[in-house]
Amino acid sequence: MIEFTNVSKTYPGGVKAIDDISLSIGHGEFVVLLGPSGCGKTTLLRMVNQLEELTEGEIAVEGSSIHDLNKIDMRRNIGYVIQSNGLFPNMTIEDNVMVVPAMLGWSKEKKKERFEYLMNLIGMPPETYRKNFPHELSGGQQQRIGVARALAADPPVMLMDEPFGALDPIIRARIQEEFLDIQRTLKKTILFVSHDIDEAIKLADRIVLLKDGKLQQFDRPEELLNRPANEFVSEFVGEDSVLKSLSLYQVQDMKAKLTLPEASDGLDGTVFKHGDSLRYVLSHLLHPTPKPVYFERQEGGLAGPISVAHIEAFVREMTA
Ligand SMILES: Nc1ncnc2c1ncn2[C@@H]1O[C@H](COP(=O)(O)OP(=O)(O)OP(=O)(O)O)[C@@H](O)[C@H]1O
Ligand SMILES: [Mg+2]
Repeated sequence: MIEFTNVSKTYPGGVKAIDDISLSIGHGEFVVLLGPSGCGKTTLLRMVNQLEELTEGEIAVEGSSIHDLNKIDMRRNIGYVIQSNGLFPNMTIEDNVMVVPAMLGWSKEKKKERFEYLMNLIGMPPETYRKNFPHELSGGQQQRIGVARALAADPPVMLMDEPFGALDPIIRARIQEEFLDIQRTLKKTILFVSHDIDEAIKLADRIVLLKDGKLQQFDRPEELLNRPANEFVSEFVGEDSVLKSLSLYQVQDMKAKLTLPEASDGLDGTVFKHGDSLRYVLSHLLHPTPKPVYFERQEGGLAGPISVAHIEAFVREMTA
């Protein structure tokens, strides 16, 4: 879907922003580009839609070299959300969202229908916001409009440069959830820049971790946390990587890995479902006056009581 082959980028001043990166990103995959400020995330992203020229190597989107795509193909195939939402201040919300369809020459009816669909998708009633200007919206609403604009021509590929970066943590968490929901339906191929490990873990199917333009690790979040490829990765994911990885695993993962006792009855305790995160389970176990913890079982009945020792055994399994 997106293929980077030995891609390097040296800026005119001599900075080697990207150094020999090869990556193969699958159809419908959500990939987060992660790393400290200046590591080359934005540069890598902008080479995909040719806002930056690459110095060496090759990038292909859906089997075609990006150099063979003209500007129109590019707009049709690749949506782009820039680092600050980049809405045009003097254009209404409707005109902002419909910039690319207008360039592609869509009919008035088709644009109207698409605008209404997108506004409903991002949870902002089209009639309420159609005639507003960007400054009349909250920061979170502006970010949503930025996402809607990138989705407007329904491109299979989305490039998103810290799209939720400017938001406070609570709004940010909510927009992340909403966006994950949208992605579950739309299944875009997404390259998403972040410098926040927690955001990356929450959103990514796989994470690309960069340092000084070089690839450090390209892996699923739990692999990055449990099996960091080098010292830098291990420092970047942080000392609480075990807790972070527990938030990625669910009750069903533990049931699949460990043989758990069968409970006679769980009336006195708290019962967790298959999809509950193990981090949530652990916080119950660490409560000053904990109630016994049980897991529901597929075949009926309960497993448990579960103890901290079970969590420890699971973590040992996952990091072995
Ligand atoms: N137009 C440019 N001309 C020269 N050097 C540049 C240019 N743009 C970026 N750089 C340099 O390339 C390197 C990578 O920059 P880039 O913007 O890709 O980093 P980033 O990972 O997106 O950082 P941030 O998290 O701060 O947005 C940096 O050293 C930067 O100074
Ligand atoms: Mg950047």
